[in-house]
Amino acid sequence: MARPPRPPLSFFKTLRSRAKDYLLVICLLLVIYLLYHQPLHAPLSQRTQPLPVFSRAATTNLTRNHLLFSIASSSNSLPGRLPYIRLWFSTYSTRAVAFLDRVPPKPSPSSPPIIISGDTSCFPYTFLKGHRSAIRLARVVKEAVDLNLSDVRWFVFGDDDTVFFVDNLVMTLAKYDHERWFYVGANSESYEQNAKNSFDMAFGGGGFAISASLARVLARVLDSCLFRYSHLYGSDSRVFSCLGELGVGLTHEPGFHQVDMRGNLFGMLSAHPLSPLVSLHHLDSVDPIFPNMNRTQALEHLFKAVNADPARVLQQTVCYDRSNNFTVSVSWGYAIQVLEGNVLLPDLLLLQRTFMPWKRGRNNDAATYMFNTRDYPRDPCKRPTVFFLESVISDETGVQSNYVNQIVGDCPKRIKNLEKIRVLSHQLELGIEQMKAPCRQCCDISPSNESMVINIRQCGVDELISMFV
Ligand SMILES: *[C@@H]1O[C@H](CO)[C@@H](O)[C@H](O)[C@H]1NC(C)=O
Ligand SMILES: *[C@@H]1O[C@H](CO)[C@@H](O)[C@H](O)[C@H]1NC(C)=O
Ligand SMILES: *[C@@H]1O[C@H](CO)[C@@H](O)[C@H](O)[C@H]1NC(C)=O
Ligand SMILES: *[C@@H]1O[C@H](CO)[C@@H](O)[C@H](O)[C@H]1NC(C)=O
Ligand SMILES: *[C@@H]1O[C@H](CO)[C@@H](O)[C@H](O)[C@H]1NC(C)=O
Repeated sequence: MARPPRPPLSFFKTLRSRAKDYLLVICLLLVIYLLYHQPLHAPLSQRTQPLPVFSRAATTNLTRNHLLFSIASSSNSLPGRLPYIRLWFSTYSTRAVAFLDRVPPKPSPSSPPIIISGDTSCFPYTFLKGHRSAIRLARVVKEAVDLNLSDVRWFVFGDDDTVFFVDNLVMTLAKYDHERWFYVGANSESYEQNAKNSFDMAFGGGGFAISASLARVLARVLDSCLFRYSHLYGSDSRVFSCLGELGVGLTHEPGFHQVDMRGNLFGMLSAHPLSPLVSLHHLDSVDPIFPNMNRTQALEHLFKAVNADPARVLQQTVCYDRSNNFTVSVSWGYAIQVLEGNVLLPDLLLLQRTFMPWKRGRNNDAATYMFNTRDYPRDPCKRPTVFFLESVISDETGVQSNYVNQIVGDCPKRIKNLEKIRVLSHQLELGIEQMKAPCRQCCDISPSNESMVINIRQCGVDELISMFV
């Protein structure tokens, strides 16, 4: 979050301070008005959820166009974050607006439309060492609704360093009825961050979605909440608290990722939950996700896979090569690990601790995360052999993704004659019913000389993912 600009010193200082007094009085009156008139005296019909008469029809056929993305940004941070925004936003396919504190010096043609946030100087902010900009960014929720754009079923909020996987978000939200009240997102990976905020709060950087019917009500009452929650740190905790007062709790979707971690994300990206990948955040604070590339290049590389088969990105499939005594774990579109011997499936679902805690200087072994982890050997020769995505080719017959070996350190080559792995799959199309009951797919390994070929397919009726059955 960026700090709001400091007001310039001026020789109209006394004039200003008098104006300030007036402002204070106006604010006070506003507080009194908000406390006593809204929403307590709002007519009952405005506070209750509309009856879901058309809900069944309305939830079907959700498209990208039904989503309005609001990007919390500032004129200082936006230019540096445009490379991230460009990955998922384009004027033709996505509706998004960026909320800034003031007009940026150099407007960029590839930027989403810019809205300058309203003045928030009359709201109190009392969190020590925090930034007042939290108020402005919380009010983005209200200002997005007040744009009054047509046909918005979901209001989606994120930071300017949030990368969204829009098609997967559409599939995820299609499970829920936008005419009912829903607040969809995920908490932090860090136990400590959740303990400090709430385990049931959607962290703003991971992004969250609010159904249109709820967002319209929230927009009406938000200012009143902003006065009551001046003691909180961030914008997300303000929104969370106000939704709590409306009686709404979080619908947890594990595809959103706040990424309160640093360093190497490999352990997280190679063992994604079964839900589709919806967002990644804090990408400035982690290493580039592919070797030998800068951050932007690495993400653009991942998007080659995203564009070919969004739902499958990072989905983990495991297959066993019994004749060669290998276990192979595929994180589709990202990386493949080849392990010697028979590694049981549940062990492969644990996240290897390749990353560091968000708070610098913490002991990584003592850091507590919201998921189970396993050790990542210090000795690179004891780690699995990793093959990273090289290219993706797709046509009507299917998708072929190719992965190449990455030599780490100076270990002798452990898996002889294996340079490349080719993965064949079909575009993963998940209906609402499949989204509600997600299921891992299976794979087969066909041996070949210089490369390995893996076929991903739906599992058989009572097929088990294991080396020996
Ligand atoms: C959803 O799309 C299908 C096929 O395009 C169409 O038949 C159906 O009427 C649509 N439903 C709604 C509620 O728009
Ligand atoms: C919002 O849009 C609707 C329909 O487009 C219009 O009737 C209404 O007056 C608008 N409200 C505001 C506050 O602009
Ligand atoms: C990353 O690499 C690309 C291509 O080489 C280059 O255009 C871009 O400026 C680099 N970005 C950064 C932040 O260094
Ligand atoms: C398979 O590999 C593991 C680990 O390298 C080894 O302990 C085991 O003996 C091997 N099994 C066979 C049948 O070769
Ligand atoms: C694998 O190698 C053998 C012997 O070198 C050769 O006869 C065979 O054609 C090769 N197979 C493939 C698929 O390249």
